[in-house]
Amino acid sequence: MSSEHHARHHAQVLVASNRGPVSYAVRDDGTLDAKRGGGGLVSGLSAIGPDTDALWVCAALTDGDREAVRRGVGEAGVRMLAIDAEVHADAYNGIANSVLWFVHHLLYQTPLEPAFGSEFRRQWAAYEAYNRAFAEALAAEAAPDAAVLVQDYHLALVPGMLRELRADLRIGHFSHTPWAPLDYFRMLPDDIAAQLLRGMLGADRLAFLTRRWADAFVGCVSGVLGPDALGATRIGVHGLGADADFLRERSRRDDVEERLVGLRSQIGTGPSGDVRKTIVRVDRTELSKNILRGLQAYRLLLESHPEWRERVVHLAFAYPSRQDLEIYRAYTAEVSRVASEINETFGTPGWTPVVLHVKDDFARSLAAYRLADVALVNPIRDGMNLVAKEVPVVSDEGCALVLSREAGAFEELGDDAVVVNPFDVSGTAAALHSALVMPSAERAERTKRLAAAATSLPPAQWFLDQLTELRG
Ligand code: F6P
Repeated sequence: MSSEHHARHHAQVLVASNRGPVSYAVRDDGTLDAKRGGGGLVSGLSAIGPDTDALWVCAALTDGDREAVRRGVGEAGVRMLAIDAEVHADAYNGIANSVLWFVHHLLYQTPLEPAFGSEFRRQWAAYEAYNRAFAEALAAEAAPDAAVLVQDYHLALVPGMLRELRADLRIGHFSHTPWAPLDYFRMLPDDIAAQLLRGMLGADRLAFLTRRWADAFVGCVSGVLGPDALGATRIGVHGLGADADFLRERSRRDDVEERLVGLRSQIGTGPSGDVRKTIVRVDRTELSKNILRGLQAYRLLLESHPEWRERVVHLAFAYPSRQDLEIYRAYTAEVSRVASEINETFGTPGWTPVVLHVKDDFARSLAAYRLADVALVNPIRDGMNLVAKEVPVVSDEGCALVLSREAGAFEELGDDAVVVNPFDVSGTAAALHSALVMPSAERAERTKRLAAAATSLPPAQWFLDQLTELRG
């Protein structure tokens, strides 16, 4: 169905997010190539069944997306908003990714930044316009009393704006990120901090991935707006889990088997002929993922435990993310530089200590999950971290999980992981050593319990629970 041919006021369930479930690229011959994404919302929406009229409202992100909107082609059930490209860039790169993401993940180097001046105010106006475009589209598409599920920090103002336009709707908002503690949140100018919170409080229900992030939000509301400011808005927690059925089936397909063969030959065997141990990490190259301290910890492991030299390989998959931002490009370059430095310092003709892959390849990620002896998940701060939940589900023979206590997943997986403070490089090196020497029976037992905890709330259920709560 073309996005231009929607009947108005028809949708009973609406999802709104910056990134949608499909993206387009213009082929050389001028035709459009559609790529579908996965994730919790995609499985969630498919779980509500064909009888419910559902609509996903998202932003056109690529030139291909804009072209698809211009030509009026698109997927049934998806409406892409062709927001002016500069407005979108200021809202997405300028505010969402360079301010709100930094606030919630505690990423600023405070002696230098943030400095909220006129450039910030200009970008904030774009963020308001971008949120307004979503609110207006949702108001136009929603059936009376429809449920609207707004996603993430990109769209924090939408609930309040939408409430003004359509008082009849049931509005939910879900945060996939952590929420900042009050003292950090207050770095935002006072009027902006208040506007953001009031925008969110336009929802009937606000949901978070963990109790910790939900409590932080409530703390910000009472600290910034006053003790009773929460009003009638309900707060919920839904800890998104891994999709066990999908992962188990997908990770046994031929393309994954092929990647396993390739990775095994890159890993190779140690001096005594044993297959080398493997420490795996898989991340977007995202500032909050702490890839550099992970590499430093690995380097320290090789220094402080020389017995591991030639006997271990660190498979580090760091896939490109947000490359419009200079700081992400610099971070990506630094990850490559440090990996090469470790290889130059310790590598031998038959042993590459760090195997770094930067080209996104889901089948290869699954292959790495299957063979990992140790998974390193050490974010500075993370809403949940699904890698920590996926590895135990897919692992062939059990995998020790080194997990940051600052990841949302720590609440559910902490008991069976080797837990680290993500800033403590020495502690992380010691944790890698403990994980590597963990007896295989213990590793297998822990992996079983981790997999059970990781899959207790599958994506479809996660989504349906939110819908039920919102309608309840
Ligand atoms: O991990 C939190 C999150 O907000 C996800 O919900 C979302 O997919 C991602 O970050 C945003 O990333 P991007 O900027 O690449 O769309």
